[in-house]
Amino acid sequence: MHIRSKRSWELPERAATPEAVFLDRRTLLGGALGLAAAALPGGPAFAALPGEGTGATGTADLYPARRNEAYTLDRPLTEQRYSADYNNFYEYGTNKTVTPGSNALKVQPWTIKVDGLVEKPFEIGFEDLVRKMPLEERLYRHRCVEAWAMAVPWTGFPLAALVALAKPTGDAKYVRMQTFLDKGMAPGQRQFFYPWPYTEGLTLAEAGNELAFLATGVYGKPLLNQFGAPLRLAVPWKYGFKSVKSINRITFTAERPKTFWEGLQASEYGFWANVNPAVPHPRWSQASERVLGTDQRVPTLLYNGYAEQVAGLYKGLEKERLFA
Ligand code: MTE
Repeated sequence: MHIRSKRSWELPERAATPEAVFLDRRTLLGGALGLAAAALPGGPAFAALPGEGTGATGTADLYPARRNEAYTLDRPLTEQRYSADYNNFYEYGTNKTVTPGSNALKVQPWTIKVDGLVEKPFEIGFEDLVRKMPLEERLYRHRCVEAWAMAVPWTGFPLAALVALAKPTGDAKYVRMQTFLDKGMAPGQRQFFYPWPYTEGLTLAEAGNELAFLATGVYGKPLLNQFGAPLRLAVPWKYGFKSVKSINRITFTAERPKTFWEGLQASEYGFWANVNPAVPHPRWSQASERVLGTDQRVPTLLYNGYAEQVAGLYKGLEKERLFA
């Protein structure tokens, strides 16, 4: 039997309500064998739901990808029916029901521009990029700054692999990632007071951390539009607004990028945005989180439970506003 030690981000099973996905797997395989099954090549199969991604990017054959066992959880995954129906995607509205509107997002053709301080700027089609990359599935927590949380099976590749492909020059210190800008395709972008396009950024050191992940899929299939198809960031130790969706430009810079939420309200949403239960948002506590699909609140953990992997990134930066 597959035995492994518990990693720092794993919640005890009792901390969360059992979910159907979890239960299904258990029913199928029986108790602890479920964990072993997760290690099988290809990972588990997730039930198909109406309206889910059709693989419009021409990459459906790549799913499901092998699950990387280093990133499994000891808490139930959030069922797709909850996580796919409660989204932040301001390009398609400011409430959580963006799924119908996000049908307007056309993901093919999709080109990603890689520029700035790199050896040679280039543009690459999404499908070409994905087929160059080592796809794997990882189970990650996600903690929104609004104090809700979920656990999601992303498929994708390490951001570090994209950085290696881009070959940044010695002057590069940051990676800026941007969403498309197209008012026709995203009515939310007609709201002039938002600093479109949605922009996020990481230091190069953060981008090279093993946890920084570019997701191309979820629940064993290509990304659903509302999750930020065809390519979105997943940085689980930071508040969710750092995980920019529908990326079409990645720029290496010497200056710290001005991010979307920082541009709107810097005192509440800063550049670093690392999760810390002890540092309240100016208008609410960050001590606990509501788990989507349950009526439970669970304690929030420092760096969302990933301190072991990321705390070292911030040595010497204690004077920065690391947790807002
Ligand atoms: N990316 C874009 N382009 N537009 C957005 O509005 N919202 C962010 C982030 N990425 C957002 C975005 C916020 S606030 C969160 S919490 C997560 O996406 C939500 O991801 P989810 O909808 O997949 O749960």
